[in-house]
Amino acid sequence: MKSLFVPVLAFSAAVSSQLVLPLFRGGSRPPAPPSLQPLARSQTPLVNILVDPAGPGPVMPPPDPSRPVDPPSNSGGDVMLSDVMGRDRSINLFAGFVRDIESASQRLDDSSKNTTVLAPLNSAVEKLPRKPWEDPRDYGTLGPNAYEGDDGQDRALRNLRRFVEAHMLPVNPWPAGEKVKAIGDDLDIWWEDKDGTKLPGNIEVVSIASTVANGQVWILKGVRNYA
Ligand SMILES: *[C@@H]1O[C@H](CO)[C@@H](O)[C@H](O)[C@H]1NC(C)=O
Repeated sequence: MKSLFVPVLAFSAAVSSQLVLPLFRGGSRPPAPPSLQPLARSQTPLVNILVDPAGPGPVMPPPDPSRPVDPPSNSGGDVMLSDVMGRDRSINLFAGFVRDIESASQRLDDSSKNTTVLAPLNSAVEKLPRKPWEDPRDYGTLGPNAYEGDDGQDRALRNLRRFVEAHMLPVNPWPAGEKVKAIGDDLDIWWEDKDGTKLPGNIEVVSIASTVANGQVWILKGVRNYA
């Protein structure tokens, strides 16, 4: 798989739309309903990984013909988390990270696995002291070029995957008080209603943005401590 993917990491300063190349589009899923398209198409991942150097077109498999082409709504049925991640612009940075991590994207497209996605607001990602794919330990051992070259890009991808997976829980529904562990780490996480819905670390849940057949997207005001 490594040879198929050419990581294109953008390390420039601001976390903003300038960082993006809409290279990975129209992958495994049928087109979104027209009402969703403007949002979905304007998604701009920070890191674009899934580029097939062997030719144009997405690396993902072709659409599954058994899937309905135009899901009528997100009220369950056949609509997957992968369909709705791009709907809310307030989390489009995180949605872009998910797209860059193939295993995460596949999970959100998998009807046999439920997931609670804990999606931090763009503002929370922008406030981080470093990019989600940066790890001070890498700079410590490798210096300022830690993310250059093929090895560097692999390293960045691994770090980004850790960040993404710390924000995906392998369960849904997720009742209050129920302790679970994120896909990517060993720390218990639960929620309670106390001056609003809160996760450990006093991370506030802004809303549950979507409930679909294979889970929910929760929007968080903060980022989990994933390091
Ligand atoms: C998966 O999540 C959806 C949305 O919360 C829920 O309706 C469904 O019952 C869940 N399925 C399982 C097997 O837990």
